[in-house]
Amino acid sequence: MRETIVAGNWKMNLNSLSIMDFIKDFPHLVEDITEVKNIIFPSSVYLYLFKEQNTILYGGQNVHFEEKGAFTAEISPGMLRDMGCKYVIIGHSERRHIFGENNDLLNKKLISVLNNNLNPIYCIGETLEERKSNKAFEVLKKQLVEGLKDIENIEKLIIAYEPVWAIGTGETATPEIAQEAHKFIRTTLNEMQSNRGENITVLYGGSVKPQNAKSLIKMQDIDGFLVGGASLVPETFAQITRIIRED
Ligand code: PGA
Repeated sequence: MRETIVAGNWKMNLNSLSIMDFIKDFPHLVEDITEVKNIIFPSSVYLYLFKEQNTILYGGQNVHFEEKGAFTAEISPGMLRDMGCKYVIIGHSERRHIFGENNDLLNKKLISVLNNNLNPIYCIGETLEERKSNKAFEVLKKQLVEGLKDIENIEKLIIAYEPVWAIGTGETATPEIAQEAHKFIRTTLNEMQSNRGENITVLYGGSVKPQNAKSLIKMQDIDGFLVGGASLVPETFAQITRIIRED
């Protein structure tokens, strides 16, 4: 079932004090909104702060595919579940481009988290260079085909289309560019998964803010957002959630 989701990827930002404030303030700002699901992805060292509350859904920004062992600094799917996470981001473009994570590794992570009953948000997206040389769809297809290889239990899968050139740059994809990519993603998922792509939630990410949320959410294949910078302030994040609801 496709859901309307507005997720906040906090990356390496905020601290225990500001997070406690967010946890206190944010639920009141969206308490009348039941048709949009908010999910927060804090730094893993602060997951315990979310475990102590039960209003805000949350998850990990990254995960290792093994269940345990000698993997210094890594976090297993079971550890995320132990901290009360229901979600996890897989393959964010910063993981792909700064930390060298490739489709094969991300495929292992996706298989592992789905087997562990977590909901992955699998991020895909092309660079500016790839878009300029007309390779955007080729790249997206490869990320889907290789990342989702041998995966059939896709009920919990969420996809985020995040064009790398729009992340943290202030430059958003126009609603038309985003819709074109989302439609391509859904068609590809339908081909790969015997028409089950219709049921997969596909989020847009990349400089989403209250000013552009409305025109993006109007697009047929955009089911919600993965928000970075604009998710750090409760009021702004709530504003984006509210705009979606009013559509
Ligand atoms: P941004 O980040 O909204 O700050 O562009 C989005 C993301 O990286 O998920």
